[in-house]
Amino acid sequence: MSSSGEAELLHTFKGIPFTTRSSPELLKSLDTFDAREDDVLLVSYPKSGTHWLAGVITKLYTTQVTITSPIEFGDISRLEELNKLSSKRIIPTHLDYNMLPPNFKNKKCKMIYISRNPKDTAVSMFHYYRDNPNLPTVDTWTAFFDLFLKGNVVCGSWFDHFLSWAEHEDEKNILFLFYEDMKKDLPKVVKEISLFLNLNVSDSDIQDICKKSSFSEMKNDTEKENSDPNHTVCALTSNRKLIFRKGAVGDWKNYFTPKQNIRFQEIFNEKMKLSKM
Ligand code: A3P
Repeated sequence: MSSSGEAELLHTFKGIPFTTRSSPELLKSLDTFDAREDDVLLVSYPKSGTHWLAGVITKLYTTQVTITSPIEFGDISRLEELNKLSSKRIIPTHLDYNMLPPNFKNKKCKMIYISRNPKDTAVSMFHYYRDNPNLPTVDTWTAFFDLFLKGNVVCGSWFDHFLSWAEHEDEKNILFLFYEDMKKDLPKVVKEISLFLNLNVSDSDIQDICKKSSFSEMKNDTEKENSDPNHTVCALTSNRKLIFRKGAVGDWKNYFTPKQNIRFQEIFNEKMKLSKM
């Protein structure tokens, strides 16, 4: 990572790197956040398919819902803004489970956690680091690979993030989804989401939602500015054009050397051995 004047792009809170778009004051006051029972949380480690999922979820509702910017994005005035919203709130976040405002847990709000093969997540994040001026510069894939494995990237270690949530996999108010399952059979996953959210959606509406949520449709919508180009569900940028890159499964094979793959796999096996998932 280049150090030239970029140190100020990141700061650390409770051991996790955040960008300065998440103010320390806001992060400190998250514990006092007042959740509502009908809030829905959309949770992910960055680059796991958050915007895809957000696109699907908003299309499922026929009543008015507001998809907010991430709860950890902005300064302390954010919490007041969220409190003022009168419509149902869908709140994205990249926070790990331990940092989530306790009120969401106490009120058993519905939460959807989307994850993705961490190898593809790492490659996607590498490009994001390169394209996103809010993130430090990385010179090479090799350098980024090391940072990712050490958890020395924004939002911290993929493993810690995933494991903090996976520990709660038996809780009925949390639905776990995988990017790869959405790629394989989107209608099936959309049906699962609609049942989880108690929404009555016909099969033909599901087909329609899937069509409108394909990678090419979503990318086109953003390029043609059919969707707000200045609104993202990622605390790391407001520029929607940075989100839709390739949208593929297995792109890691174009980046990982055989040696990197072995090293990644060893760390993955070690870290994940206690997870049932
Ligand atoms: P790539 O960089 O691998 O292309 P997030 O929304 O969490 O930031 O994740 C972004 C990743 O999801 C990007 O991955 C992006 O291309 C991919 N993505 C976004 N919309 C998608 C869609 N409709 N279908 C498949 N992948 C999508």
